[in-house]
Amino acid sequence: MIKVAVLGYGTVGSGVVQILDDNNSVIASRLGEDIEVKYILDLRDFPGDKNEGKIVHDYNVILEDPEIGIVCETMGGVNPAYQFSKDALLKGKSVCTSNKELVENHGPELIKIARENGCNYLFEASVGGGIPIIRPMNTSLAPENIQKIMGILNGTTNFILTKMAGEGANYDDVLKQAQEMGYAERNPEADVEGYDAGRKIAILSSLMTGKTVKFADVHTEGITKIDTLDFEYAKKMGKAIKLIAMAEKNGDEYTAMVAPFMIGADHPLNGVNGVFNAIYLTGDMLGDVMFYGQGAGKLATASAVVSDVIDCGRNKNKEIPCVWSEEKLTLGDYKKTERQFFVRIDMRSRGQVVNKFSYLKSIEVTDTEFALVTGKMTEADFLDKINSIDNVISWIRLA
Ligand code: HSE
Repeated sequence: MIKVAVLGYGTVGSGVVQILDDNNSVIASRLGEDIEVKYILDLRDFPGDKNEGKIVHDYNVILEDPEIGIVCETMGGVNPAYQFSKDALLKGKSVCTSNKELVENHGPELIKIARENGCNYLFEASVGGGIPIIRPMNTSLAPENIQKIMGILNGTTNFILTKMAGEGANYDDVLKQAQEMGYAERNPEADVEGYDAGRKIAILSSLMTGKTVKFADVHTEGITKIDTLDFEYAKKMGKAIKLIAMAEKNGDEYTAMVAPFMIGADHPLNGVNGVFNAIYLTGDMLGDVMFYGQGAGKLATASAVVSDVIDCGRNKNKEIPCVWSEEKLTLGDYKKTERQFFVRIDMRSRGQVVNKFSYLKSIEVTDTEFALVTGKMTEADFLDKINSIDNVISWIRLA
């Protein structure tokens, strides 16, 4: 019998408990062993809840119980999750987490501690909610030199952008809906400013390179400046606006960034809508591959945590491979990357912009402004030019 403890009985934690209960027989048959949740750690009591009797408030009860072989950390935040995870691993208890903030900050250190103590630290749910991406990167994609990752990695912002594009919905109303549905972070700034996607691309870039890419080094822009007219322009061009997390290999250098991009109708990420996430990845041998699924939400995310629980249960006292060293990777300058840009300026500056850019086409939506798509140029060159023009309304990158 495998006995599990769940840390945090919130959205994801309660989902983990539910899946281990609802799908108990199928999980046990795939494990070849019975499995149950023995403890749930939370500060709160849950009177009337069917798992009320499993609630404990003292973490030592879990740490000191030799029957507990696997701990699911679904608390979120770095503290006290970091210390709790470390303490479990030092006792030889595997840890399965959905906590991207902790994984981004301390992932390689916790993997190392797990290895030294004959257990595993797994984090499938930390990127892309329910989408299998961490395990595929560590196994199926192991033969590849990954050249590029483009991901829609935040369900909340994709939900907002989809509703704004399709229904002309108001930004604040849609954000509220995403919060009510349990998609958004406690502080939604992490979603809408791109920090959540930034942490996730830092984790994926680390697995891509085998070294540590820090979130702090990832250039991050959010969706708060996108307005309803941007969607009209995008529609006219047959494009969608998506918050894209990108990691690229250029020569010997890697770059990583998060920003809104216009995506053409022919790109598979164009049709990824609502709370769905997708990771579009290019390997040097395999070519392109895309992983798609629900990027946030209780059961989807919890399913990924439980997949790790099953992996740990099947691999007791065995190391589950994951190449991620503590050596820091210095990212290259994303401004050296070449791409096209969509630009909106006040009609009064039309002459200036036409003189500065070799542009491919202009797009008309109103009489008061002028919009164009530039030719390919480096970000540095583009910024130089755009900063010298008056009355720029906004601009968006093209992917
Ligand atoms: N707030 C996150 C999102 C939750 O919206 O994608 C899943 O990490």
